[in-house]
Amino acid sequence: MDLKKITAEIADDLDFLKTFTATPGNGCTRMPFTRETRDAAEYLKKIMKEAGLEVREDCVGNIFGVLPGRDRSLPCIMAGSHYDSVYNGGDYDGIAGVICAVELARMLHEEGKNLECDFVVAAFMDEEGCRFGTGYFGSKCMLGQMTVEECKHFTDKDDISVYDSMKSYGLVPEDLVNAAWPEGSIGHFVELHIEQGPVLDATSIELGLVDCIVGIQRYMITVNGRSDHAGTTPMDMRQDAVDIATKVISKIGDMARAEKPGTVATVGYMKVTPSAMNVVAQSVDFSIDIRSTENEIIDKIASQIMTELDKETQATGATYSVDRKLTITPVQLSGAMLDIMEGSCKDLGYSYKRMPSGAGHDALAIGQSIDTVMIFVPSKDGRSHCPVEHTEYEAFSKAVQVLYELIQKI
Ligand code: GLV
Ligand code: MN
Ligand code: MN
Ligand code: MN
Repeated sequence: MDLKKITAEIADDLDFLKTFTATPGNGCTRMPFTRETRDAAEYLKKIMKEAGLEVREDCVGNIFGVLPGRDRSLPCIMAGSHYDSVYNGGDYDGIAGVICAVELARMLHEEGKNLECDFVVAAFMDEEGCRFGTGYFGSKCMLGQMTVEECKHFTDKDDISVYDSMKSYGLVPEDLVNAAWPEGSIGHFVELHIEQGPVLDATSIELGLVDCIVGIQRYMITVNGRSDHAGTTPMDMRQDAVDIATKVISKIGDMARAEKPGTVATVGYMKVTPSAMNVVAQSVDFSIDIRSTENEIIDKIASQIMTELDKETQATGATYSVDRKLTITPVQLSGAMLDIMEGSCKDLGYSYKRMPSGAGHDALAIGQSIDTVMIFVPSKDGRSHCPVEHTEYEAFSKAVQVLYELIQKI
C-alpha cells in the first residue's frame, strides 16, 4: 500500500474542495441548496466517476458512487459523510469522510479488489442543520424518515423553507420519498470523521474508534413579550422578552453541569425583536441544543427548561412557544466492526482509543437501524466548527488503511 500516494490524493481533493465556500478566507460556509453545495456536488461526481464508480445524485441532493460487487443482490457496504458545513466552519468536517471514502473506492478499483457486495460512497446533503435547524436531512431521507410536510415547516433565518430552497435548487420536494433506500439494502455503514475535540491530539493517539454517539434534542423557543417605551415603562409593568429569556438561558449551563460528564447544553442562536436600544423587547427567539449519551438526561434537561419558561413567563403574563427541531437518541456502534478495526490498528502499529462522540454525525441517524461504525482522526488543538480546524493529511491515510481492511473483512 502506497501511503504517500493515498495522502497526496486525499490532499489534492480536500484542497480543491476548500474553494467551494461562500466565505473565502474566513472558513468553509457551504449551506445546503446553495451555489457552493452545487459546485462541491459537481466536483464530487467528477472524482467518483474517475474512480470508476457508477454515480448518481438523488432527488434530495445526496450523491452516491457505486463500485459494483460480485453479487449485486447482497446488502451493500456504504462509506461516507456529509458535504455541507456550518457557517465559517473548517475544511474537513464532513467532507474529509467523503473524500476518504472515494479514496477507498479508488484503492479497491485500482487493485481490482471489488467486494462481494456493492461498495457505495455516500456524500450527504445537510447533516449540520445549520441553515434550517434540523440536521441529518440527507441521511434521514435515505432512511425514509423525512416528509414533505417537514420540508415545508422548517425555515431558515430568512424564512425560506427547506421546500422552497429545494425548488430553487432544481429539485422536486414531492419526490422526496424516492430518496428512501429499500429496507435491508444497506448492510453496514462506515464513517470517517475528524474528532472535533481535543482528546486524540492532546494524548498523541493516532486514531479514535468510536463506540457510541450522543443523543441530541434541538428546540427553537420564542418568548413573546410586549414592546414598550424603554424610558417610561416601570420595571414591574413590563413583559420584557429579553429579561425573561435570559433568566431561563442563564440556568441552562448549570443544568448540564449537574449531570454526568459529557452532558452539554448550548444556546447558540438568539434573535431579539425589534432589537433597538430604547424599546423593550417584543420577542426573543433562541435555540437549545442538548446532548448526552443517556436519553433520560436529555429529557430531564428539556423538561427543566420548560418548567423555567413556564415560571418566568407566568410571572409577567408573557407567553412562549416551542418548535422541536430534532430528536435523536444516543446510539451504540457495531462491536464486531470495532473489534476488526482494533485488530488492524494493532497489526499496523497505530495507537488508538475507543471513545464516544459528542458531535452528531450521519452515523448517528444511520446507526439507529443499520450496523454502523466510525473512526476519528485527531483535530489540531481540538478545534472544529471554526476556520482554524486542521488535521494532518497523513492522519487521514492511516484511518483509510484501517477502513480498507475493515471493508474487506466484514
Ligand atoms: C454537527 O456537527 C453537530 O454535531 O451538531
Ligand atoms: Mn460533521
Ligand atoms: Mn459539524
Ligand atoms: Mn457533527
